Amino acid sequence: MAYGDKRILMVCLGNICRSPMAEGILRHKAKLSGISVDIDSAGTADYHVGEEPDHRAIRCLKSHGIDISGLRARQFSRRDFDTFDMIYTMDASNHKNVLALANNDDQKNKVKMILNENNPGSDAPVPDPWPGGMDDFEAVYEMLSEACDEVIRKL
Ligand code: 4NP
Repeated sequence: MAYGDKRILMVCLGNICRSPMAEGILRHKAKLSGISVDIDSAGTADYHVGEEPDHRAIRCLKSHGIDISGLRARQFSRRDFDTFDMIYTMDASNHKNVLALANNDDQKNKVKMILNENNPGSDAPVPDPWPGGMDDFEAVYEMLSEACDEVIRKL
């Protein structure tokens, strides 16, 4: 695959906190780096389909110069294995749920926990900030920003 042709999907549970944040952060960094990449996000659950990101996720990213207010939640689907080259999951539960929908090893090999990009082999989770406060969203921003720097370096 040629440089800049990659299609990347970010996956969490609800698609209203972590994965839309990851989508916005990676798109922002790709733009700053002049890299052309298709980025999307989805949730393993359908609880929030059609909703905009959580207002705290929007506010957190706005404070870092990134606008994700236009994103809308959707549920992960098996078709995403065909559409995307890389599928980044946020925690062990999302990871397990996505892998359970894969049909073959090619599809399984596309799925990676995102913090393993900058902490290889750690299987560290991006903690769900939903029940928390702004500090939790800010911590998620910092984790995803570092991981996305590494994703960009590898593109
Ligand atoms: P996310 O956070 O997976 O980072 O979008 C969540 C949002 C909503 C719920 C769980 C996690 N929920 O149970 O509704």
